[in-house]
Amino acid sequence: MSSDRIHSLFFELFSGLPRQGPGDTKSTRRALSFIPKLSSQSRILDIGCGTGAQTFVLAEATPAQIVAIDNHPPYVDEVNRKAANLNISDRVVGRVADMRLLEFTNGSFDLIWCEGAIYNFGVEDALLDWRKLLRKEGSIAFTEVCWRKPDPPVACKDFWAREYPAIRSKEPLLAVIEASGYEVIGQFEVPMSAWWGEYYEPLQMKINEFRERYKGDKDTEELCDQCEYEITIWREFAEFYGYEFLVLEPS
Ligand SMILES: C[S@@+](CC[C@H](N)C(=O)[O-])C[C@H]1O[C@@H](n2cnc3c(N)ncnc32)[C@H](O)[C@@H]1O
Repeated sequence: MSSDRIHSLFFELFSGLPRQGPGDTKSTRRALSFIPKLSSQSRILDIGCGTGAQTFVLAEATPAQIVAIDNHPPYVDEVNRKAANLNISDRVVGRVADMRLLEFTNGSFDLIWCEGAIYNFGVEDALLDWRKLLRKEGSIAFTEVCWRKPDPPVACKDFWAREYPAIRSKEPLLAVIEASGYEVIGQFEVPMSAWWGEYYEPLQMKINEFRERYKGDKDTEELCDQCEYEITIWREFAEFYGYEFLVLEPS
């Protein structure tokens, strides 16, 4: 499969889904409850926003100005379209940007938000790099996949070794956070339901549709097999891993 073809099929599969990774409104709001009150002058940077699942929860729950960035332009277009439909384009703006090369003024955000996307940069690198963007007394909230139980079965361990070898349990993650100069002000496990209802279930329906639409196309079958395998791993071994929501302040 050519990498251009994989890329375009992948994004076609994931576009139009309610979200591009595990998460839910309740968890976004719960994480937000640890953050000092935000005003209409406050600025939030939502990194790896996808099509804006959490962006619009933040917009509803706070009066803050929100800049939502993603490196996939069609997702950013969708965020801007949704903001226009909701009549909130004056305070929610999507921009195409690479989370590793953010060109915002230092000290210009009260809150950095990153749901299901920090792994693209790596927690350590992201925490060290993004800190300069925070105003004094600013906060960072992010989700990261963690082992929840020791000794996962081989199929589960192999899957994660391939997909995200940096996966670790919560303790080493907390040690990295502390070593990067942050204090945890809130943390909780994102519930298992956030993997199915808002993510894998709609993805599975899209996979079924895709298989019908592109019947006989090998590239599509391969992509659908890969995504379904991820869902199978979750169905069988979900108790061994999950997302942790972390809310931090520079210490
Ligand atoms: C798993 S999705 C999560 C999206 C969204 N936050 C959600 O929970 O629905 C990860 C997102 O990170 C974006 N992404 C990947 N690498 C990136 C980078 N280097 N800079 C900015 N965004 C990136 C992807 O395009 C994708 O939208």
